[in-house]
Amino acid sequence: MEKSYNRLFENNKKWVNTKLTESPDYFKQLSKGQTPEYLWIGCSDSRVPANEITGTEPGEMFVHRNIANMVVHSDMNLLSVLSYAVEVLKVKHIIVCGHYGCGGVMAAMGNKQYGLIDNWLRHIKDVYRLYQEELDAITDEKARSDKFVEFNVMEQVLDLCKTSIIQNAWSNNQELQVHGWVYDIADGYIKDLNVTFKCNKDLPKVFQFKNFAKTLA
Ligand code: CO
Repeated sequence: MEKSYNRLFENNKKWVNTKLTESPDYFKQLSKGQTPEYLWIGCSDSRVPANEITGTEPGEMFVHRNIANMVVHSDMNLLSVLSYAVEVLKVKHIIVCGHYGCGGVMAAMGNKQYGLIDNWLRHIKDVYRLYQEELDAITDEKARSDKFVEFNVMEQVLDLCKTSIIQNAWSNNQELQVHGWVYDIADGYIKDLNVTFKCNKDLPKVFQFKNFAKTLA
């Protein structure tokens, strides 16, 4: 039986050849290290490949993906990626990119059980609760889920800005912007939701950290 994944190795060889034809030093250069300018937080959905839809090359984008592009502030995976991207790589832009028709977001709108994933979807349901009145008022289901996708991205942008990692970067005058975008699978375009944060002053006051105190005394 032919293995369907064999084509992945064949494609890989072709890709290596293409890259080497364009630039014989391509991999030698890449192996020296990475200095990406962007951190991408996107959905795991196979239709939303970060590099491909933004025309970025290996080395240009640090990427974290999970179901429904969530920023869960007790998620060690997300926090580790964020900390490394901001404190070590010193990325200049963090992009939370959701997408219309997101299965995770749509599942969170409903009441069906899916198993373990319901515990992850609950974070998205919390976003629904915040915007319940506005969302419930939208009768068209597609329009409602599109709006929910946008609200979800906005909340994840806020959740990023609430972290001490980002606020400390800002208080150290590090150049860092946090953006919220939505990708439309139906036409391929990315939309900027214009919810960019550059400092913590627009956060609700209770979330604003003062400079990190070295001692608790
Ligand atoms: Co999705």
